[in-house]
Amino acid sequence: MKTPLTRIGAVLAVIAVIAVAGLAGRHYWGMIAGAPESGVAAIGGPFTLIDEGGRTVTEADFRGQPLIVYFGYTYCPDVCPTTLTTIAEALDLLGNKGHDIAVLFITVDPERDRPENVGEYARVFHPQIVGLTGTIEQVTAAARAYRVYFAKASQNPNDPEDYLVDHSAYTYMMGRDGKFLTHFPHGVSAKDMAERIAKLL
Ligand code: NI
Repeated sequence: MKTPLTRIGAVLAVIAVIAVAGLAGRHYWGMIAGAPESGVAAIGGPFTLIDEGGRTVTEADFRGQPLIVYFGYTYCPDVCPTTLTTIAEALDLLGNKGHDIAVLFITVDPERDRPENVGEYARVFHPQIVGLTGTIEQVTAAARAYRVYFAKASQNPNDPEDYLVDHSAYTYMMGRDGKFLTHFPHGVSAKDMAERIAKLL
């Protein structure tokens, strides 16, 4: 016969398992929504976007360079500026070692982020950061390739230009061959990011 104490223990264990499963599920969903079971290796792939000068760029233009990829938008109040600052600091820490890394800041808000805005915004953080935009279809396809979730949120009913965009905030690192190497969560320190990048270069 079980004592009440063992029974409480069993209940707590069940709650703990459910909580852990819930968190794991949420992480999975946030990072690679819609990804096949093969998982993180499926991140990345072809994209066609527009750079600051209005030129069409594809993943092939960066082949041979290590690539850091982050999706966000210039009106983002906090997460994107924080992440871009971290990436910029990591590049500074890497110094010469990271001189040929291309950092892509791809907007998830192509309606407001025009080529010149997104390019100028990205460059303010670091000269190695390239801002890219495109048509809604191009941006959606790029986000899908990187398993990035984004959706318009908190729209001001009196001003269609005033809204926030929810988006996943992982930073991806791709190798010179364009293949996925690793990802960094939002909140990673510049030092940790620089150390991990250095090992993968
Ligand atoms: Ni953001």
